[in-house]
Amino acid sequence: MKQLKLKFTSSIKKSFFRFINYILRKLFTHDEIIELTNDLIDIYNSKRSFTWVPWNVDFYNKMFVLLKDAIIEGDYLEFGVANGTSFIFAYQAAQKFNLKSMRFYAFDSFQGLPEIRNIDAEVKNFKEGMFNVAESEFLKRLKKDNVDLSKVQTIHGWFNETLTNETKMNLLIKKASVIMVDCDLYESTVPVLDFIVDYLQDGTIIVFDDWFCFRGNPNRGEQRAFREWLKRNPSIKVSEFHKYGAEGNSFIVHIDD
Ligand SMILES: C[S@@+](CC[C@H](N)C(=O)[O-])C[C@H]1O[C@@H](n2cnc3c(N)ncnc32)[C@H](O)[C@@H]1O
Repeated sequence: MKQLKLKFTSSIKKSFFRFINYILRKLFTHDEIIELTNDLIDIYNSKRSFTWVPWNVDFYNKMFVLLKDAIIEGDYLEFGVANGTSFIFAYQAAQKFNLKSMRFYAFDSFQGLPEIRNIDAEVKNFKEGMFNVAESEFLKRLKKDNVDLSKVQTIHGWFNETLTNETKMNLLIKKASVIMVDCDLYESTVPVLDFIVDYLQDGTIIVFDDWFCFRGNPNRGEQRAFREWLKRNPSIKVSEFHKYGAEGNSFIVHIDD
């Protein structure tokens, strides 16, 4: 009965949206509809602690539909959380697709970027301390957006110090379903990729939010770290999943038995 009621409500909702769509297209031009949509998004964003970006929502939906359909169970690990924008997107998508057992791990210095050194220093847009958001501020934003904090664990510190076997023993992560790498720099990405190997399973999605940083140069940033890591770990195969936004890319991991 409950299932039937849900189906009925969702088909009424769909018909309602189709009707609104039809009316809007009759009354307004394409450009006017875009303008109206952008105004509505601005109003929505002004009420939230983070900026809602439609194309990111689309990407998160695709990712979580895949996890749901392929029954890939596991946790969400994000390396570089800053003020929690992508972390909250992931939490919300997991709730939307009913992935109730997923736990959420937030790794960050909570002091912003480290000193920019070596090949990372060749492009001038990154600065030490950039994206500095305190852990308390990050948690406050999560709370404001109704994230269940009992499902969240923060791992505070520089990756080259915290991403150790000792940390692994203290965390209850079995496998990862999504690994979000959003730490911008080559030197930050290297320890992240070495740390995640034990958590991979067939179907884990690895997301690189800064794939096309450094002018998209494959010898810099996350692209370089990923290529070198795949070379060090020949048993790990990947195929490209979706590109998103201006700089993001993602991959599905394949591990044969
Ligand atoms: C671009 S921000 C992350 C943005 C975030 N995912 C969002 O959607 O709002 C990059 C983050 O990576 C963290 N980070 C970069 N390198 C790090 C390192 N070596 N150790 C710890 N944290 C690091 C910074 O503190 C910063 O919060």
